[in-house]
Amino acid sequence: MSHVIHRHLKAEPPRAVRGDGAYIVDSDGKRYLDGCGGAAVSCLGHNHPAIVAAVQQQVQLLPYAHTSFFTTDVMESLADRLTDAAPGMHSVLLVSGGSEAIEAALKLSRQYFVEAGQASRHLFIARRQSYHGNTLGALAVGGNEWRRKNFAPLMVPGNHISPCFEYRGLRDNESQFDFGQRAADELEMKIQELGPENVAAFVAETVVGATAGAVTPVPGYFTRIREICDQNGIHLILDEVMCGTGRTGTMMAYEQESIEPDIVTIAKGLAAGYQPIGALLCRGEITEAIRNGSGFFQHGHTFMGHATAVASSLATLDVIRDEQLLDNVLRQGHAVRKQLREALGEHPNVGDIRGRGLFIGVEFVADRDTKEPIDPDRKTHNLVQRAAFANGLMCYGMGGTIDGRLGDHILLAPPYNINAIQVDELVEKFAAAVNATLG
Ligand SMILES: Cc1ncc(COP(=O)(O)O)c(C=O)c1O
Repeated sequence: MSHVIHRHLKAEPPRAVRGDGAYIVDSDGKRYLDGCGGAAVSCLGHNHPAIVAAVQQQVQLLPYAHTSFFTTDVMESLADRLTDAAPGMHSVLLVSGGSEAIEAALKLSRQYFVEAGQASRHLFIARRQSYHGNTLGALAVGGNEWRRKNFAPLMVPGNHISPCFEYRGLRDNESQFDFGQRAADELEMKIQELGPENVAAFVAETVVGATAGAVTPVPGYFTRIREICDQNGIHLILDEVMCGTGRTGTMMAYEQESIEPDIVTIAKGLAAGYQPIGALLCRGEITEAIRNGSGFFQHGHTFMGHATAVASSLATLDVIRDEQLLDNVLRQGHAVRKQLREALGEHPNVGDIRGRGLFIGVEFVADRDTKEPIDPDRKTHNLVQRAAFANGLMCYGMGGTIDGRLGDHILLAPPYNINAIQVDELVEKFAAAVNATLG
């Protein structure tokens, strides 16, 4: 019996032995098209020579240097590259993953207010059906009931408003824009309820990923959110751990919303899975306040700014730029959604096909007219994912799309360098899995 604590202790997954572009190969030689990048991570496939070379080179030169003692060329370069790519952002903290980035964002926001003489600001507001990570602080902020339930006694209480979930929230005779304003105005109400002087930040995924399946904001929503944050003097923290670094067709997903956050987190695609890495980017005035105050951000982890991870990230950004992959993300993202609509658009159990770039969600329903969800005990998302996997396609299924219990969806997040033949294979295998599961 394995000594590994696998994700499910009752089943051992197949053994992955090598990568081949968009495919993972297991110990039996079976090939799996990685249609979801694991969890929207592997954005360049699994053996890109440029990233492999960058990792090898950095390991030979200097694998790691603790950030209490040194900075490194690669860390300085990556901070420059990221701030160039992220409008409005000035400073960068490099960590080892998404949850670490969110924890750092919460603490940075809090410390800013302490140093700025507004120590009463300590509360965070987020949205139901959001996911911001599994460490206790990130989990407390997140709004997914299923993930929170068992650990609620360990966490600080969360403050949640409705998500901007058009498919589920738009009322009859309501325009997209009005719906977005109504959803955003809940933030104002929540701030007033908690007392503006107590609130530090609003945290939101620019495009919601794991828990709701590529839910895009409606036009005007984030403009109104930004306005409310400004009026109340609170930070806007955008969590782009999943949707950032090119996944939606722009380096930062917020570029498509015509606003700038105060803090943004990124992680998954940042080094394409070749090394674990995450980052927090923030406005200059936040780091300036701390520089002029204590001079010390009271936070840190051993592997922060890990040189090999940082070198992989630099190489990843180079490949995205040099191979013009953002264009491919938009082109192939459009193709995947179009082909999914052709294959499944009339399927009685496919309620919505949505997303942006190569960040695509398919939501299942029992009835397309009423949008009634399928009985959650049937675990439809799981059955579709398993049928696809058996047929050599990785896709990311999740239940509780609507409220943490009801609803099923599949998230697709193939590599940025996917080609047209692989898009055909992805859609064909996915449609086959849906038809095999739901008839
Ligand atoms: C939006 C978002 N934030 C944070 C996280 C946590 O990232 P990690 O699993 O790297 O800790 C995730 C992971 O899925 C995520 O999707």
